[in-house]
Amino acid sequence: MALLLLFLLAVSVVTADEDAFIGVNIGTDLSDMPTPTQVVALLKAQQIRHIRLYDADRAMLLALANTGIRVIVSVPNDQLLGIGQSNATAANWVARNVVAHVPATNITAIAVGSEVLTTLSNAAPVLVSALKFIHSALVASNLDNQVKVSTPHSSSIILDSFPPSQAFFNRTWDPVMVPMLKFLQSTGSYLMLNVYPYYEYMQSNGVVPLDYALLRPLPPNKEAVDANTLLHYTNVFDAVIDAAYFSMSYLNFTSIPIVVTESGWPSKGDSVEPDATIDNANTYNSNLIRRVLNNTGTPKHPGIAVSTYIYELYNEDMRLGPVSEKNWGLFDGSGVPVYILHLTGSGMVLANDTTNQTYCIARDGADPKMLQAALDWACGPGKVDCSPLLQGQPCDEPDNVVAHATYAFDAYYHQMGMASGTCYFNGVAATTTTDPSHGSCIYPGSGGKNGTFVNGTLLAPSTNSTFSGSPSSYSFDGAFVSSIFIGVLLWSAVFL
Ligand SMILES: *[C@@H]1O[C@H](CO)[C@@H](O)[C@H](O)[C@H]1NC(C)=O
Ligand SMILES: *[C@@H]1O[C@H](CO)[C@@H](O)[C@H](O)[C@H]1NC(C)=O
Ligand SMILES: *[C@@H]1O[C@H](CO)[C@@H](O)[C@H](O)[C@H]1NC(C)=O
Ligand SMILES: *[C@@H]1O[C@H](CO)[C@@H](O)[C@H](O)[C@H]1NC(C)=O
Ligand SMILES: *[C@@H]1O[C@H](CO)[C@@H](O)[C@H](O)[C@H]1NC(C)=O
Ligand SMILES: *[C@@H]1O[C@H](CO)[C@@H](O)[C@H](O)[C@H]1NC(C)=O
Ligand SMILES: *[C@@H]1O[C@H](CO)[C@@H](O)[C@H](O)[C@H]1NC(C)=O
Ligand SMILES: *[C@@H]1O[C@H](CO)[C@@H](O)[C@H](O)[C@H]1NC(C)=O
Ligand SMILES: *[C@@H]1O[C@H](CO)[C@@H](O)[C@H](O)[C@H]1NC(C)=O
Ligand SMILES: *[C@@H]1O[C@H](CO)[C@@H](O)[C@H](O)[C@H]1NC(C)=O
Repeated sequence: MALLLLFLLAVSVVTADEDAFIGVNIGTDLSDMPTPTQVVALLKAQQIRHIRLYDADRAMLLALANTGIRVIVSVPNDQLLGIGQSNATAANWVARNVVAHVPATNITAIAVGSEVLTTLSNAAPVLVSALKFIHSALVASNLDNQVKVSTPHSSSIILDSFPPSQAFFNRTWDPVMVPMLKFLQSTGSYLMLNVYPYYEYMQSNGVVPLDYALLRPLPPNKEAVDANTLLHYTNVFDAVIDAAYFSMSYLNFTSIPIVVTESGWPSKGDSVEPDATIDNANTYNSNLIRRVLNNTGTPKHPGIAVSTYIYELYNEDMRLGPVSEKNWGLFDGSGVPVYILHLTGSGMVLANDTTNQTYCIARDGADPKMLQAALDWACGPGKVDCSPLLQGQPCDEPDNVVAHATYAFDAYYHQMGMASGTCYFNGVAATTTTDPSHGSCIYPGSGGKNGTFVNGTLLAPSTNSTFSGSPSSYSFDGAFVSSIFIGVLLWSAVFL
């Protein structure tokens, strides 16, 4: 019977038995950390129904009682060695931090450690014991059905992540990964994965296009194709998740779902982090939230829920490291949004979704010659009415190529109904939610201060994967760049 059951589990595939949700991580490294009551008030106002804590703070768990908010609590890395070495310590931890709070506080999972293999490898040998000890304490309290046990991994344990079909877990960790996956499978738990397209983009030396990292709509000829499966990838997020599914299936685990325990984009960075901007953070998180809530799934498992926790609720001003490290939050310590997410239509979470409006502008730092060429194209073959740019007209000032190109790009974008791929201009254009209008120069798409907005479409990832170009593959570390991307670079010559 047990054998039969195991067999059934082994052959079953990941199935869609529930809808994906969006949660939010709550880091607490703030100089003015709000009180638990204030945190819970913000969560309620924003209709955030799922959170992850990095510990199991008692005051926080008490404040969350009877709110209906689902909570992942965490065993911090500094307690992992103790718990992994002692069943009694694990049982104590569960008694104090879980049993004492349920059912009033709805604890749905325990994250045991954080990115242990990549940040605390000396604890790796006890990681699976820690999972098992925590789980047996839950069994003893009859809580193992409602509280899942897992451990969040950095996606950097996945090697050769593109094409996803060739990805595998760093084999150094097989002695941990194999028993861990067995544990997740036999307990009906899920793989916790942290997915950061921001870092994939930053570390790719230009191989990963920004739009592909930001889940922006791509023209079909810019999609990345996995040559083995012929699956089309329109964004890094999907590619990393599929790489994880394939890595698990190489170890013969095909039924373990994935929950993304962290993903996000910083809204501010230092001089070497030029793409950590409010617009990019808003674009990434808005696109991600819409995509997750739509149960879009991934190319390998379309329609399969990949619930995702946004990193993170607050900007953590006390965190060390580059400026971006302090700027992943959706809110500042006083609960003021860092930006207003661009979410109309998805309802449910992060209630303050005020606008559908997007504009197309010249990308920061774009080459002036390429901007000029794109401007000429827009005002010529692109059939944009560029008369407001003439001397003495409302949009003549400032008289520079960036301002003029922005006007022309935005006019073209709206003229084309903001269709996918129409704010591209060979990579020198970008969309923004900030109205670039100034003075009497009103940009297409803006009603100016008089407020007659032209209704826009959502910035939705393209699902139309018409294939053009020869299948090939590329890797994010730049070792071998796809003919598709090279094709795109060449395509510019035709376009301009
Ligand atoms: C706790 O959360 C789970 C998972 O979302 C849900 O099924 C359950 O009904 C919740 N329990 C309570 C008491 O709200
Ligand atoms: C650990 O403790 C639990 C009770 O909390 C018990 O059921 C289980 O058998 C113990 N496991 C080991 C390996 O000692
Ligand atoms: C695999 O993991 C080991 C141990 O952390 C590390 O030393 C090695 O560099 C990793 N391999 C790759 C290719 O990243
Ligand atoms: C996976 O299963 C196949 C077929 O049963 C077997 O040949 C292979 O060795 C297994 N791989 C692992 C890592 O267990
Ligand atoms: C939405 O934003 C406005 C202005 O920023 C604020 O006054 C309002 O309280 C917010 N609503 C919610 C539900 O947070
Ligand atoms: C806004 O309305 C005022 C008065 O109704 C008008 O004078 C002004 O031209 C309008 N501005 C735009 C950009 O339509
Ligand atoms: C935003 O777009 C959605 C769907 O396209 C539409 O239903 C909604 O009315 C729009 N909202 C505004 C404020 O324009
Ligand atoms: C734009 O959206 C608003 C609010 O959703 C609606 O009242 C208006 O009729 C729409 N306008 C057009 C031109 O679709
Ligand atoms: C939502 O899902 C439907 C079908 O499942 C798909 O056609 C649509 O493009 C998706 N929208 C987004 C924003 O992903
Ligand atoms: C995809 O694109 C093709 C060719 O451009 C078009 O014929 C088809 O209708 C599109 N499909 C969808 C779902 O938009």
